[in-house]
Parts: sequence; C-alpha cells; structure tokens
Amino acid sequence: MIPAYVPNPIAVVAGGGTPIDLGTTFRDGRRVLGDGKTFRGLFGGILGGILAGILLIWLEGILGFSIHTLSSVVLLATGALIGDLVKSFFKRRLDKKRGEKWFLADSYDLVAGALFMVALFDLPWLTAHITLPVAFWIIVATPLLHRGANIIGYLAGMKDVPW
Ligand code: CTP
Ligand code: MG
Repeated sequence: MIPAYVPNPIAVVAGGGTPIDLGTTFRDGRRVLGDGKTFRGLFGGILGGILAGILLIWLEGILGFSIHTLSSVVLLATGALIGDLVKSFFKRRLDKKRGEKWFLADSYDLVAGALFMVALFDLPWLTAHITLPVAFWIIVATPLLHRGANIIGYLAGMKDVPW
C-alpha cells in the first residue's frame, strides 16, 4: 500500500495554488471541492506515490521478490488521491469545512480509491495480492498510519490540524 499512502503527505507539501474546482460552487451553494484540493497537491502527490512505488519495485528486485508492477503503482497512487477528491466532494455536501475532521472517511478514502482503481483496471493484481489477511491489516493499519503521519505533519508545521 506504500504507493497509496505516500500521495497524501506529498500533497500536503506540494499543495497550494489553483484549486481543482477553480473556486466554483455546487448547486447547494457550497464549494464543489474546496481550497484544500489543488492541482499541485494532486499531481505532486500522484507523482510522489509513483516514485515511491518505483523505488519499491527496485527494492523488491534486490530482495528477490516481486509484488508491484508499474500498473499497480500508478493505479494505487492515482486512486488514493481520486478517493481523497471524492471524499472532499461529499464532505462539502455535508457542510463540513476544509480540514474539519470526518472520522474514518478521512483515512479510508485513499484505501477505497486505490483499491477501486486496481479492481477496475488490474483485477488480477488485486486478487493475487490483496488477500483477506492483507485486507484485514490494511483496515487496521490505515487509520493508525494516517493519524501518525498527520500528527508529524502538524508538529512539523506543515498541517494546520493534527488529523
Ligand atoms: N492538498 C492539496 N491538494 C490535494 C490534496 C491535498 O493541495 N489534492 C493539500 C492541501 O493543502 C490540504 C492538505 O494537503 O489542506 C491536507 O489534505 P487533506 O487533509 O486531504 O485536505 P483538507 O484540508 O482536510 O480538506 P478536506 O476538508 O477537503 O478534506
Ligand atoms: Mg483533512
């Protein structure tokens, strides 16, 4: 899941500038996505996830096993931030502000997005590698990793809130 976990923190660092919704509002009068979703964050984050994945493929080669492929890496990284965008769309519809806490949705968005993308475009990879025990550990570890990373980002002054 590393290619899916890396894009979020990279988006925090790379983010800023033009928001993806270009400042437009939805028919409910609230922002479509909000200022927390920017082009720089999206593309920087995806690129970061892909680079991390390529590093992983290389490392796997040295260690003598093979899990990731260019396809799995690209799909996981892209899916993670698409999940994040979809999450923010619904977050705005619920009138939650940018950065406001949304329990579980804020961490499982990337899992849902990433796994949905591989399910859609590389199902054989998904069934080969996301077995039941793996899925179990993803569900357990994701909120913990997410929270940990956000506390670090907050203490480092990169995030406004520790979630
Ligand atoms: N970010 C970005 N572009 C993205 C995703 C994230 O620029 N596509 C940056 C923004 O600066 C954002 C920060 O990373 O504030 C943290 O990301 P996240 O927690 O996903 O966004 P929130 O600010 O919490 O916004 P939302 O309420 O929409 O989730
Ligand atoms: Mg947030």
